[in-house]
Amino acid sequence: MREDMDNQYYCFTFIAMNIIENCSLKQFNTFGIEANARYFCEFFSFSVLRSILCEPKFRNIPKLILGGGSNLLFTGNFNGMVLKNNMSGITLLKEDDTHYFVKIGAGEPWHRVVMYCIAHNYAGVENLSLIPGSAGAAPLQNIGAYGVEFKDIFEELDTVNIHNYEMIKFSKTDCQFGYRESIFKNKLKGQFVITSVTLKLDKVPKFNTTYGAIDKELDTMGVKELSIQSIAQAVMNIRRSKLPDPEKIGNAGSFFKNPEIDKAVFEKLKSQFPDIVSFPGQNSHYKLAAGWMIEQCGWKGKRVGDAGVHKDQALVLVNYGNARGQEILDLSRKINDSVKKKFGIELEREVNIV
Ligand code: FAD
Ligand code: EPU
Repeated sequence: MREDMDNQYYCFTFIAMNIIENCSLKQFNTFGIEANARYFCEFFSFSVLRSILCEPKFRNIPKLILGGGSNLLFTGNFNGMVLKNNMSGITLLKEDDTHYFVKIGAGEPWHRVVMYCIAHNYAGVENLSLIPGSAGAAPLQNIGAYGVEFKDIFEELDTVNIHNYEMIKFSKTDCQFGYRESIFKNKLKGQFVITSVTLKLDKVPKFNTTYGAIDKELDTMGVKELSIQSIAQAVMNIRRSKLPDPEKIGNAGSFFKNPEIDKAVFEKLKSQFPDIVSFPGQNSHYKLAAGWMIEQCGWKGKRVGDAGVHKDQALVLVNYGNARGQEILDLSRKINDSVKKKFGIELEREVNIV
């Protein structure tokens, strides 16, 4: 009797949670890698998420929180539960004289959030237009583009602890943001589900056109007076011309970070390679363009089976069709070896390996 009741309970919760066994993840990662999850569940609410985390059958198996799958490389099947975050909603929490505070469900597609903010004249997100993925993953690696990082517009976020289901808020300081870094990518990796993020956006825009390509594109567009709409459009135009569309060719954006080095190392490299491409980094460091170094090593446009280096952007590794994750990872290691040999610099991966 007890067992029957348990079975009934499980059947009920399985339907309510809509758990799929042996689910293909191919359509859930922008690299388009074929890999299976032992269990897969999409959750739209905190209560469903909590039910899954509490469920005895799943409590002790590995969990992977999935957003848009645009910064992941699957190198094999995932022998655990993949939890796809679909928590939605964009709400104006409050405003003061200078700012809007906007709370966003973690499953909202990031670019939809950007478009929503621009339509409502909430300024600050415009340079981050067209970055794939979900709002909940944005803090994980402190997404950045065209002179702006997520931390610049961040107020706080809400999480659930995967192990004890406790709900905890994180402030900007708590998140320990850095260049493509946060506490959730390091010390607290895999420990928390981010359920919502709150942005602090400007009422009066502070236009950021420090990234040279933006001014050039605004000129081409014939823009005379800056607006958040025109900056967003310029950023979208540049991105469409530079980065491969994952709908057409599998990729996860930049595979590596741009290395940050101190002045002494930079000066030595500059004397050996006068054309080396660099940008001012944080704390008087220099950021090197990894794409340039990879290109100098002869990798740009190279293809090994179905794994390759994009023909126009050497920092982006691509799947031409049926590459396995391991093949892309092997290619990335070869690239790293040759950059290390030529420049003495170790590249760090940006993409999360699963
Ligand atoms: P996923 O790939 O699903 O997950 C990434 C990591 O976050 C995983 O470890 C996952 O477990 C974890 N995670 C996801 N959601 C949650 C959550 N709710 N709670 C806890 N953990 C979670 N990035 C930039 O910074 N700048 C760019 O300009 C940029 N351009 C890109 C261009 C292209 C064409 C592509 C394909 C990618 C680009 N990226 C860029 C990388 C990517 O878009 C970002 O890293 C994005 O934030 C990933 O979001 P996602 O929802 O797809 O995350
Ligand atoms: N370059 C080359 N060859 C290449 C690629 C780049 O020589 O094949 C040199 C060029 O001189 C170019 C410079 O590198 O001017 C910088 O290239 P780009 O403007 O394309 O930017 P990136 O450094 O390659 C970074 C981010 C991108 C972000 C753009 C714009 C990292 C790891 N990548 O790329 O973010 O969109 O700047 O801000 O910081 C991502 O994180 O996935 C991502 C796409």
